[in-house]
Amino acid sequence: MKGISPFVGIAITIALISLLFTFLYPLLYHHHSPSPPTPRLFTVEDLAIYNGTDNSLPIFLGILGSVFDVTKGKSHYGQGGGYNHFAGRDASRAFVSGNFTGDGLTDSLAELSSTEVKSIVEWRDFYNRTYIYVGKLVGRYYNSEGNPTKYLKGVEAKAKRGAQLMEKQKIEEAKVPGCNSRWSQDEGSEVWCDNGYPRLVQRPLEIALTGKMSKRCACYSEIDLDQPGLEVYEGCGFLSKSCRL
Ligand code: HEM
Ligand SMILES: *[C@@H]1O[C@H](CO)[C@@H](O)[C@H](O)[C@H]1NC(C)=O
Ligand SMILES: *[C@@H]1O[C@H](CO)[C@@H](O)[C@H](O)[C@H]1NC(C)=O
Repeated sequence: MKGISPFVGIAITIALISLLFTFLYPLLYHHHSPSPPTPRLFTVEDLAIYNGTDNSLPIFLGILGSVFDVTKGKSHYGQGGGYNHFAGRDASRAFVSGNFTGDGLTDSLAELSSTEVKSIVEWRDFYNRTYIYVGKLVGRYYNSEGNPTKYLKGVEAKAKRGAQLMEKQKIEEAKVPGCNSRWSQDEGSEVWCDNGYPRLVQRPLEIALTGKMSKRCACYSEIDLDQPGLEVYEGCGFLSKSCRL
């Protein structure tokens, strides 16, 4: 009687092994990675307990109503850490204001610009990537059922609008190259163009983005110099390639 071809034998062995792994792997995997703790709902008072004062407790931080376990960042968030004020509370606003005193430590984002709001959402994403999500703070951003409030939805929409405006501004600015610039102690600052002529121009979306006026130096070709809104640098000639400031 002829034996089975060694190739078939190998094929069957491989098939059996992969079958074994398919079933075993999830079991092994599960065993080695305990699922994250179930998200819980915090009140302001619940959260305050985890402010790093009690060394036997973890340290929790709230941002936009999401609560993260930042115990592994104890050197920042623990007692004496430079960012201890973020521990045990939601001080979302301070992530852009840098004001860690008194009423600066608030979760209110009233009057912030869309880029500032975007920056806070990016901080939340940073915590989500870096630390362990543990739950939600009931209040401004989540209601007592743990559902996002209108305020949170408004914040996320504003951040998204900020991102779109920044993208649009980037595309617009790419159409007209920026000036070169340099600064030195004795020469002061200077802007110049390799192609075209230096003009100061208001960034069109800046007010929508930041609520502030902002100008940039861009290099315009001769045929574009009659566009409205282009400002010749003070003390600089209409067709100078370089301007001292
Ligand atoms: C609005 C102002 C600021 C805010 C809200 C802020 C916030 C933070 C936070 C939350 C962390 C900890 C991140 C983590 O968990 O790993 C951090 C780390 C750090 N910050 Fe700031 N920061 C601000 C301004 C500054 C300034 C002005 C400097 C420097 C001049 C600075 C230098 C650092 C450094 C070096 C680290 C990393 C420290 C380390 O990993 O050991 N920050 N910042
Ligand atoms: C921080 O915020 C509080 C409340 O809005 C304000 O009174 C205080 O002047 C601010 N401090 C700084 C350094 O901006
Ligand atoms: C954290 O990241 C996960 C995975 O991308 C996402 O599903 C979740 O909504 C994020 N949570 C927060 C609070 O941003």
